Amino acid sequence: MPDPYAWFNEAKFGMFLHWGLYSLLGLGEQVLLRGHLKPSEYRKLAERFSAPNYDAHEWARMARDAGMGYMVLTTKHHDGYCLFDSPGWEFSAPHTAPGRDLVAEYVEGCRAAGLRVGIYYSLQDWSFPVMFDGPDADPDELERLVQKIHDDVRALCSNYGQIDLMWFDGRWPLHDLWRPLEIDDIIRELQPDCMITGDRLHGAPAQFPDSPFARNDRPGYIASSERRIVASSVPVPWEVCDINQHRWWGYVKHDHHYKSATELVYLMAEALGQGANLLLNFGPMGCGAFPQRAREQLEGLGRFTERNAEAIHDSAGANGLFEYLVFGDMTRSGETLYLWVKFWQGESFHFAGLSNEIRGARVLGRDDIEVTVERDGDHIYLRGLPELPPDPDITILAIDCEGEPQATDWGRYRLHGGDYDMRVWQDWVRS
Ligand code: GLC
Repeated sequence: MPDPYAWFNEAKFGMFLHWGLYSLLGLGEQVLLRGHLKPSEYRKLAERFSAPNYDAHEWARMARDAGMGYMVLTTKHHDGYCLFDSPGWEFSAPHTAPGRDLVAEYVEGCRAAGLRVGIYYSLQDWSFPVMFDGPDADPDELERLVQKIHDDVRALCSNYGQIDLMWFDGRWPLHDLWRPLEIDDIIRELQPDCMITGDRLHGAPAQFPDSPFARNDRPGYIASSERRIVASSVPVPWEVCDINQHRWWGYVKHDHHYKSATELVYLMAEALGQGANLLLNFGPMGCGAFPQRAREQLEGLGRFTERNAEAIHDSAGANGLFEYLVFGDMTRSGETLYLWVKFWQGESFHFAGLSNEIRGARVLGRDDIEVTVERDGDHIYLRGLPELPPDPDITILAIDCEGEPQATDWGRYRLHGGDYDMRVWQDWVRS
């Protein structure tokens, strides 16, 4: 039986998109609340949000060419504006300036480019005063809000064919009042193979230990970690989301700090090395176009991922193989270990701690470089490398092993009965 969730690990890298009315103002996705705007004024943006340059096919092509395998679009953020036809709700793209369902175009764009489709949906909704007055202030309104959310999830899971990932946000401050179990049931009924951000729908396992996510008793959950690389306590595939710029997720016109190519590939190395996917956020402008510098970032990423595809897609994180990594990060795939080298050592590269016989070594993307491998006990030397790194950001060295890569006792000393068992170093100290 094919694994319906295998695509997630195969992809490893995805595009997160924050785009909505707030993109017109260029002050981040939370400007309505954080900028103390008048809700009645903010709502008028819906008459200007005509999205003239929105081309979902182009967005998806840019993502694919950057090496990404899926996209996740904010179909509704905390401001309550829906890019899709939300049942009985006028504050949405089909009923305002765009005059059409922008999520339908997004899904078509993803499919045309061969990308998996992710739907971001904010539970939190600032168009309902009960969000601010507290749930006891108006139980009827709270019920209307919860019902709307359930109806929206139903619509999103019914109207666009196959959805691959439902990505939730804004669970606070109402927590279980959203009735997440029912939301989970709706998704499973309508989209049986859809993955779900389990922690973002059901809450942190420590806080909600009885949720199906904490118990991990339903298939298809992923866990997520926001702007930090922290593995989930529940053993499911996981994802780190982070931003191409500095602070907010929606377009910020005065944020001139676009992460450099080095920062972006370091992010990828660290996430994948720990075994996570990287969901990298971009904030298109209100008109629907990507800022020029974001396009350049994507092109740079495309050059990197094309050279290094085999170390990325379908890889497993391998940073945990050795207790201490001095050169960068590691992934592995089958019998190959990939060293993501941030700190290039020149013509000879040394590392220690791999127990396998080595069949050969390669520089990814550089077939013209002949690497020879020398072994001296625990020490491995790769020779014949150029003095300067072929890729100044990260060069990936592939080590083809006999069997699945394994660490020697030295490499994994931490695993010997407790944190620091010094016995593996007995011989070494006398040598
Ligand atoms: C944070 C922000 C929210 C953003 C989300 C993306 O929760 O508050 O605005 O959409 O991160 O993960």
